[in-house]
Amino acid sequence: MCGIIGYTGSANAVPKITKGLEVLEYRGYDSVGIAARTSDGVTTVKCRGRIGSLEEKLERNPIENCTCAIGHTRWATHGGPSDVNAHPHRAGRVVLVHNGIIENYKVLKEEMMKKEVTFLSETDTEVAAAVLNDCYAETGDPMTAIRQATAKMKGSYAFGILFDEFPGEVWAVRTGSPLILAKGQDGYYLASDMTALLPFTKEYYCLEEGQLAHLTPTSAVLYGSDENPKVPDWSITAMTPESAQKGGFKHFMLKEIFEQPEAIMKSVSPRIVDGLPNFSADGITADFWRQVKNIQIVACGSAMHAGLVGGRLLEEIAGVPTSSYIASEFRYHPPLAVDGTLVVVISQSGETADTLAALRYAKESGLPTVSIVNAVGTTIAREADRCVYTYAGPEIAVATTKGYCTQVSVLYMMAAAIAHATGRIDDTEARDLARSIAEDAPKAVLDMLERSEELRQMSARLAAREHIFYIGRGLDYAMSQEGALKLKEISYIHCEAYAAGELKHGTISLIEEGTPVIAITTEAALYDKTESNVREVRSRGAYVIMLCREDAPNPETSADEVIYLPTKSTAASLFAAMTAVQMLAYETADRLDLDVDRPRNLAKSVTVE
Ligand code: G6P
Repeated sequence: MCGIIGYTGSANAVPKITKGLEVLEYRGYDSVGIAARTSDGVTTVKCRGRIGSLEEKLERNPIENCTCAIGHTRWATHGGPSDVNAHPHRAGRVVLVHNGIIENYKVLKEEMMKKEVTFLSETDTEVAAAVLNDCYAETGDPMTAIRQATAKMKGSYAFGILFDEFPGEVWAVRTGSPLILAKGQDGYYLASDMTALLPFTKEYYCLEEGQLAHLTPTSAVLYGSDENPKVPDWSITAMTPESAQKGGFKHFMLKEIFEQPEAIMKSVSPRIVDGLPNFSADGITADFWRQVKNIQIVACGSAMHAGLVGGRLLEEIAGVPTSSYIASEFRYHPPLAVDGTLVVVISQSGETADTLAALRYAKESGLPTVSIVNAVGTTIAREADRCVYTYAGPEIAVATTKGYCTQVSVLYMMAAAIAHATGRIDDTEARDLARSIAEDAPKAVLDMLERSEELRQMSARLAAREHIFYIGRGLDYAMSQEGALKLKEISYIHCEAYAAGELKHGTISLIEEGTPVIAITTEAALYDKTESNVREVRSRGAYVIMLCREDAPNPETSADEVIYLPTKSTAASLFAAMTAVQMLAYETADRLDLDVDRPRNLAKSVTVE
């Protein structure tokens, strides 16, 4: 989704902005632009397409002597991808870039048109620029103008702004969409995403909701709702520039799949004390867990799928009734809360608009909230009553892998912690469970990755088909949903997940000669039933790949191909199966020579509702 980068300082700004834009590419975009301040005023260069096209334009007409600039990658919402719709947008004496959506832009546009303002683009952003310019024309003061203009806007926004009369100065404001400031040796930066700042500096500050920032080459000042200026309380990120590079792998997605063992260990080990599951470092005591009588998990996309798997584990291990909701639906049929309801929101980016809205809705309803977030200091992490961080490191590929896998590992540990706190399992069982998550899971991922060639071979048959099905029961159905999403989002092959027993109620009519059906059977108790479903589809021509435990009785007689999973523990078979479905998706998309890391139409962080 859209990305913002800005800089003012003593160094050449243009290479910094193009570098930042390159890093932001992973978020997904369809046009790109830069507004550079020189002694001649503000020069804007923008175009539809990739950063390469912008760089060609900049090579043809180089921008000299520029030490202050803002840049943007746009993911089209209002108006298709085009040169004219690309950011930055100018209105009068104001130039700005914008992430988010101005929901009342139509009303504002009409107001501006009555004032004879004409518009070049179809975007809500140009309307925001016009409103800001209108306020600026009246006040001549950037800060007052920003306050007045944003007071008229509804929706979410993060703006990076240049005013003609203030060379070398950048203003920023956010509501709903993230914005981060950074302090380098040669000036100050602004970005929508921490990774875009990593090439320059580690010192950062996340703007709070409604906060306004004013950057000059030698200062950064914050303004909140009162007039009192504040200096940012800078933090140091643990991320390195290398953590956002491919490091010899063909794609970020592959690199991130291979990073999973370490990511799991980093995410679960802070939650084990004396061998027992323990979330006290996250401010969650055993007493807190004991109050929990019901859990509602809310998230989007793969994070929601992690919630489905986690929900099963919470019910089975901790005995706590758990429901998982798609965040964008959560507000429309509000789930009935009982005494002891805990809302758990999950988000890798910590900024997904629907998840944030659901979190706010839960808080307004008076429910206690815990977030599971990967990106440190983000809005969802800050606004939830408590935050449990995953430590997956930066995830660049749009299709999440290590983000999802660490979310599941943390939910697994949560289930163990609740079960132990409530006495459902004793110390020995809790120790064994914690150990299996911390040790068996990463080992199972590693072992599965050693079988990459086997999975690559299998992907040949998948890449050749138009429809693929995943089936499973219980936990395996929950995992199938992520398997199907992973495969379809990066390979563009239609793929659906079905509860294995439900196929025969309609969908089995889609099975024809050679249709691939991937059956997941990690749960020994459910093997026989899923195996019967495998036989049903196979006798109708399906080509079945079965993921099953090593101790399954003669799976080769039921399936065309078998991927064996370790039996050491549930954690081992679960994480091995998870890795296998990720690799099947990756290998299929790679075989089709697709842009694995940046699938069409998708964005890494969806900051609009
Ligand atoms: C987008 C991404 C998905 C992700 C979902 C939720 O759709 O492409 O991979 O699962 O957003 O993102 P979050 O950052 O909230 O986990």
